Amino acid sequence: MPLRVRVCRIADVPVGEIRAFTVRGVTWPVIVVYVDGELVAVPGVCPHEDVALADGYLDGQAIICPAHAYRFDLHTGRCRHDAGLELRRYPITVIGDEIWVDLL
Ligand code: FES
Repeated sequence: MPLRVRVCRIADVPVGEIRAFTVRGVTWPVIVVYVDGELVAVPGVCPHEDVALADGYLDGQAIICPAHAYRFDLHTGRCRHDAGLELRRYPITVIGDEIWVDLL
């Protein structure tokens, strides 16, 4: 049984911008972005070191970490700079106008 939590409404996510949403009981916010028209949800922390990815920026289908500029593909989670790092993607379910993600 997944741990599904409500994160935001669809209208809270502008195309081309990073939005981070606090989820009760979770240390780091959940980032929701549009990538090539698809909603993607990822943890708000860089898997390299504990840095807020919400302070980074989008470049095409990638999010760039503000600390060391590592590039994470938002379609795959892969890191261009370190093959051992992966940015997890949370499964998304849209219910009405709300975005829910499975944290576990
Ligand atoms: S902390 Fe994100 S690339 Fe180093």
